[in-house]
Parts: sequence; structure tokens; C-alpha cells
Amino acid sequence: MNAGILGVGKYVPSHILTNEDLEKRMDTSDEWIRTMTGIEERRIAADDMDTSHMAYHAAVDAIENSGVSPEEIGLILVATVTPDRPFPSVSTMLQEQLGAKNAAAMDVSAACAGFMYGLVTAKQFVESSSYDYVLVVGVEKLSKITDWDDRNTAVLFGDGAGAAVVGRVSEGRGILSFELGADGSGGKHLYQDEKLIMNGREVFKFAVRQMGQSAMNVIEKAGLDKEDVDYLIPHQANIRIMEASRERLGLPIEKMSKTIHKYGNTSAASIPISLVDDLAEGKVKDDDVIVFVGFGGGLTWGAICMRWGK
Ligand code: UT7
Repeated sequence: MNAGILGVGKYVPSHILTNEDLEKRMDTSDEWIRTMTGIEERRIAADDMDTSHMAYHAAVDAIENSGVSPEEIGLILVATVTPDRPFPSVSTMLQEQLGAKNAAAMDVSAACAGFMYGLVTAKQFVESSSYDYVLVVGVEKLSKITDWDDRNTAVLFGDGAGAAVVGRVSEGRGILSFELGADGSGGKHLYQDEKLIMNGREVFKFAVRQMGQSAMNVIEKAGLDKEDVDYLIPHQANIRIMEASRERLGLPIEKMSKTIHKYGNTSAASIPISLVDDLAEGKVKDDDVIVFVGFGGGLTWGAICMRWGK
């Protein structure tokens, strides 16, 4: 019996911050940002829109889309590094707001790989028959930890939330394989010390190496070849990193998800937000083999090979 995704949802704030807006605030240019990252604009949450609010909107969307009722959810996992406050967790706040009164709740801290960690954790609970339905949310309000005086990082990030309801799916569909990993020795390259601090070059090198390798590993673990892959949804951190993993799989450009130009890097939210947009545009169809791959601060990484459909 496989666990799979029964419904998805997303929320992005309405306020758009363009590269041109950033040009007015710091020594940068639209051309540099587009060429070096692929980002054109990002969404920034208002002061009164905190992480839990964005998570709530995405979760409501996903629950509706899945046809499951909030009371049936056994566990809520929220992947975030920008919770409203250290505790109570965002997941417990959601539990109350959703009326998911039978759900246990915890947050997952694995930075941009957080949604992968959340989905894999959900899979374990569903496949062991511990819970019928697990709600997984990836959400970040990175704007509140962004150093707006640091052009090396300020141009990269955006706010948003994506969610999925995980449950049993029919034979042959759902999560076929996964890989999770961590290398704590690289923690010094990307961390929060009040504001976000990053050694972009080091993270870039790690990401190019790890994304391609993890994607290949999950394809092999699923007993498939890279020719069997229909669609790749990489963490949307930098178009050049994403392109490197696409080339490693030998996929044509239209078979890779790309939403970075609209939302920037939304960390744990980037993969589920992309999935929602790809489904809406008909890019992901039943029985497609999809590879998800993410990496982030920690350093952490995670990849999943899935056959889409219920
Ligand atoms: O979700 C995981 C989080 N992090 C990441 O995924 C980030 C991974 N790293 C990257 O995406 C890239 O390293 C960056 C896009 C952040 C930077 O690209 P890079 O190819 O590593 O460039 P660099 O940092 O070596 O900077 C090249 C030049 C420098 O100028 P000099 O020293 O060559 O004169 C920077 O000062 O670009 C300059 N620069 C900028 N120029 C205009 C750095 N940031 C900017 C900026 N606008 N915003």
C-alpha cells in the first residue's frame, strides 16, 4: 500500500515586489537578478499576515481539494523556519484554526528541504496505518528574517505557503521512493542569526551536486530509469541550479517546473506552490512519474519519486 497526495493547495500574498522595486532600494539591477537567479518578482506578506495565516489559507485549499474533512486528519506537519514564534508551533495554531480536533501537530525544521521531510514523514504514518490522513504544509515568511541591506540575499527570497493532504492511493501510484539527507558540517553556509546569512557560492556548489545526485538516486530506488521521468519539480532557489539538475536527468525544458520568476525562493513552500500551479496548467497528469528534489540550510536535502494520481 502506497501513500500519495490526495489534494493540494497554496497561498501567496497579493503584494508583488519586482526587481525594479529592488533597484530603487539597493545597489542591484533587474538584469543581474534575472540572469543570475531567474527571479523577476516575489510576493511579500503584509505585517499582519504571519506564517500561520498563510499556512491556514493553503491548508484550507488543500483540504477542500482532497475531499477529506478536518476531523479526519490524524497529524499536521508544518515545515517552516519562520514560525510566528518559537512555540506554540505553527502546526498547533493550524490545528485549532482548521478545527482538526483529532490531529496531533508538530513543526518540521529542515529549511528549504522541509516539505520533502514532511512528505516522507507523512508517508511513514500513512503506510503504517497509524493515521489515515496527514496534512503537510510548507510555509515561509522569509521577508521577516531577510536583511534588506544585504543585496547578496535580499533579492532572492519571497513569502508563501503550499499544502498537501497525504493518504492511501491505489496500487502503483503515490510515493515510490525517497531519499533524505543532512550534512551538519555545512550549517555555517546558511543560517539565521536574527537575519538570514548565506555564503551563496558554497550553497550553490552543494546544491548543483546534491540535487542531481538525489534525483538520480530516487529514480534508481523506484526501479526506474531517467527516461521514465515525466516531470521534475525542483526546489525553486536559482534557475541555474534547477537547470543543472534538469540536464543531469536529460529532460527537455518543458518537463521541469519553473515558478521562480513569479515567487522567488519561498524555501519550504516552493515545491508545493509549484505543484499547485503545474496541476492547474495541466503539466502534471495522472500516472506521470514525477521527481521532487529539494535542498537547504542545515545543510539538508530530500527527494521523492512519485507516480501521480489517487
Ligand atoms: O534555498 C537555498 C538558499 N540559497 C540558495 O539557493 C543560494 C545558492 N546560491 C546562489 O544562488 C548564488 O550563489 C547567488 C545567486 C546568490 C550568487 O551568484 P554567484 O554566481 O555565486 O555570484 P557571487 O556571489 O560570486 O557574486 C558575483 C558578483 C559579485 O561582485 P564581484 O565581487 O564579482 O564584483 C557580487 O558582489 O555579483 C555581485 N552581486 C550582485 N550584484 C548585483 C551579488 N549580489 C548582487 C546583486 N546585484 N543582488
